[in-house]
Amino acid sequence: MSTLVTGATGQVGRRVLTELRRRGLPAAGASRDGEVRLDWTDTTSWEPALEGVESLFVTVPMASGLADRAGAFLERAAGSGVRTAVLTTAMGSENGPPDSEQRVLERRVRELFDHWTVVRPNWLDQDFTEGLFARLARSRNGRLELPLSKRAEVSFVDARDVAHTVVAALTDDSLHGREYTLTGPAPVSFRDVVRMTKGTESPVWRYKKVDEAGFYFRATNMGWSDRYVDTLNERFRAVADGRAAVVTEDVRRALGRDPVPVAKFVRESVH
Ligand SMILES: NC(=O)c1ccc[n+]([C@@H]2O[C@H](COP(=O)([O-])OP(=O)(O)OC[C@H]3O[C@@H](n4cnc5c(N)ncnc54)[C@H](OP(=O)(O)O)[C@@H]3O)[C@@H](O)[C@H]2O)c1
Repeated sequence: MSTLVTGATGQVGRRVLTELRRRGLPAAGASRDGEVRLDWTDTTSWEPALEGVESLFVTVPMASGLADRAGAFLERAAGSGVRTAVLTTAMGSENGPPDSEQRVLERRVRELFDHWTVVRPNWLDQDFTEGLFARLARSRNGRLELPLSKRAEVSFVDARDVAHTVVAALTDDSLHGREYTLTGPAPVSFRDVVRMTKGTESPVWRYKKVDEAGFYFRATNMGWSDRYVDTLNERFRAVADGRAAVVTEDVRRALGRDPVPVAKFVRESVH
């Protein structure tokens, strides 16, 4: 019996899988391109993926319109004997409209599983090296262009802290029935991150504020859907309002240690 890690080729899922295996725990990584093929839109992939699975890490791409399908998958998983599910959504999702994709998923996980944990990370450090910010900057010769002041602050969290919290929730009963909002140890501005990456091979090494129309233009060029861009704009508004600069104690609550500072992440990840 093992853990099925969905989103296993993504920033968090990949690290969850690595950590489970490092501990010698049986685990399989699933996604459209993973070692186990799982596509939220293809119900024929669900049953084979669930074979022999007793616990589940669930991650569904933000604003993908896939929450209903993922919800149906969760019902199938609970029906086939999965007892434990750990879900990632995002910091602040509990304040979204009750019918938002993330709140619907959070509700399904609480209803369906005896042992559930909800993990809500803030923006990830790894967005600068692997994720959204890196993708945006690579298309603009290293310049990250967002509709946010360079002084806007975010308590960025390291994906390793998120993955370790997920693994703790999968393996330790004391984290069940709990919700964790994961942040780094301090708010850091985009200007600060760019200063830290100066002179390195980081994909992001310059920053420029653009207006919303300018950002929309760049996002459309990247081929992103309106739904995804709208969700990003909501998250940028949370940054501009200072809501993403809030620091929580939840990494410490889950792991008994402080979260990794952005400066340490940069030192270790970009040279
Ligand atoms: N990145 C952030 O700053 C951030 C901030 C707050 C919360 N979060 C949340 O944290 C979680 C993980 O985020 P992340 O950045 O690690 O995600 P990510 O890197 O974008 O990975 C997304 C994963 O979903 C898989 N996927 C995409 N479409 C799929 C489909 N139709 N069926 C099955 N799998 C599919 C992808 O794999 P394939 O392409 O191989 O299918 C990939 O493994 C998400 O819930 C996200 O909302 C992220």
